Amino acid sequence: MSQTAQTVREDGIISSVSGPVVTARDLDARMNDVVYVGDEGLMGEVIEIEGDTTTIQVYEETSGISPGEPVESTGEPLSVDLGPGLLDTIYDGVQRPLDVLEDKMGSPYLDRGVDAPGIELDKEWEFEPEVEEGDVVETGDVVGIVEETVTIDHKVMVPPDYEGGEVVAVESGSFTVDETVVELDNGEEVQMRQEWPVREARPTVEKKTPRTPLVSGQRILDGLFPIAKGGTAAIPGPFGSGKTVTQHQLAKYADADIIIYVGCGERGNEMTEVIDDFPELEDPSTGNPLMARTSLIANTSNMPVAARESCVYTGITIAEFYRDMGYDVALMADSTSRWAEAMREISSRLEEMPGEEGYPAYLAARLSQFYERAGYFENVNGTEGSVSAIGAVSPPGGDFSEPVTQNTLRIVKTFWALDADLAERRHFPSINWNESYSLYKDQLDPWFQDEVADDWPEKRQWAVDVLDEETELQEIVQLVGKDALPEDQQLTLEVARYLREAYLQQNAFHPVDTYCPPEKTYLMLTTIQTFNDEAFDALEAGVPVDEIIDIDAAPNINRIGVQEDYEEYVDELKSEITEQLRSLY
Ligand SMILES: Nc1ncnc2c1ncn2[C@@H]1O[C@H](COP(=O)(O)OP(=O)(O)O)[C@@H](O)[C@H]1O
Ligand SMILES: [Mg+2]
Repeated sequence: MSQTAQTVREDGIISSVSGPVVTARDLDARMNDVVYVGDEGLMGEVIEIEGDTTTIQVYEETSGISPGEPVESTGEPLSVDLGPGLLDTIYDGVQRPLDVLEDKMGSPYLDRGVDAPGIELDKEWEFEPEVEEGDVVETGDVVGIVEETVTIDHKVMVPPDYEGGEVVAVESGSFTVDETVVELDNGEEVQMRQEWPVREARPTVEKKTPRTPLVSGQRILDGLFPIAKGGTAAIPGPFGSGKTVTQHQLAKYADADIIIYVGCGERGNEMTEVIDDFPELEDPSTGNPLMARTSLIANTSNMPVAARESCVYTGITIAEFYRDMGYDVALMADSTSRWAEAMREISSRLEEMPGEEGYPAYLAARLSQFYERAGYFENVNGTEGSVSAIGAVSPPGGDFSEPVTQNTLRIVKTFWALDADLAERRHFPSINWNESYSLYKDQLDPWFQDEVADDWPEKRQWAVDVLDEETELQEIVQLVGKDALPEDQQLTLEVARYLREAYLQQNAFHPVDTYCPPEKTYLMLTTIQTFNDEAFDALEAGVPVDEIIDIDAAPNINRIGVQEDYEEYVDELKSEITEQLRSLY
């Protein structure tokens, strides 16, 4: 959070304090200005101005402040500091680095009135220029590179509010983020640090139709319900159904360059786990720490409610900044319900007219403004980059008809519905294949056809059809039992069982099965289809269904997931299945 350029302004006086909401009178401030509240100088943001009464949401515990104390405006909107040092850092919801806070206060939890810059101001970075004197640069253009972490090169860009011009001086060597590295003929000076107001999207040239999948290495996602790079997805599910595990799998394995992980006020200990776990994780694609391409925004439920409200904006603004460098960024928010609850709490303190279930009437608008900032973009500097946004939703009691789930559903294009029954049966990931969908499927098919197999769409459709048929047959089975079904339908159930157990299930905690490349996802499906085709041939030739189901090789389908040398394994398994079934007639 920046704290620069304080013009002299008229201080106001606190007139009331209600939890995170404070009103002040006679304050010279504009909507969304950051203000310092009370003798302790707590950070807050102007959210309403009516006559000479200003309403402020305060990002810190307000118990110690009282009417009569001063309020001072910075005259600037809530902004984040952008520059090298964002990665490999853990922030709170208003971009205060937790380790800095910890050093200052001896606890990773926020104390009041503590301010800290979003990126280190003293650290020197090795700046390698990409421009020379005489070059003409425009807004957004890359003027140099800094090795931000072992994994990521940080592109230093001409800030969005600059006009650009001819380079008249350029430095190379070690500099802090506030030292000028490039000067332009119009007097503009480029530093590594930029600021951007969190509630405003960074400019782009054009939002494009995304055509590349964000490959997740999770079979059910890539295979049945893929998300695009630049896409939006929701993961609704009750407590314990696997939202967090799914988000972590995506953070580790999705083929994004940069991960922004927003832990938005889930239970206290769960967030502590994230804070402890993430720095330990290895990036499977480089062997470096995962944090080397991750920025973590952590807001536990014991942090003040207003900081929870702002954390998703802080996250998506950082995401957009890396997108501008031409990177594919994936943002995970766990959980957006906590964010919505923060909105609800603040709204009720403001005594606004409540909408559905007490959420403010603008809930849907806020959700859509957030997801709108995701996309596959042509950037101002001509590069392409993406922000994919994946939000967990935790509906109370797992009831998807509640407002946050419903409003999210209307906006996002991928829906991964987690299911308590599946989780209870230890079917993981507990993604309900009947309720989930992806609207990106068709536009991503050409990529899968080019990169994996030409018949990718047909194979997927075959699996979907078998699973649909199973759902219908299960209703009959419930009434009359499996044995009452005709033999071909019994066989369909057996094929569907392999689809569920081998293909749809995937153990996040198995060293091999945890990541499944699309090639393996495809080969697993073709193996199950080989079993299907050969089994139906045998049935037609008069072999009893029990004998078909009983062949030795078939159960090995469930072992494909854990095979490292899966190509060889699948080849052999297909031949064994074929041989054993053909020997029956
Ligand atoms: N893909 C998976 N593989 C194995 N176990 C899983 C998987 N997904 C969830 N689980 C199990 O379910 C538990 C609860 O998941 P979690 O993501 O914490 O739920 P939620 O965030 O929805 O409350 C995990 O601790 C784990 O034991
Ligand atoms: Mg969770």
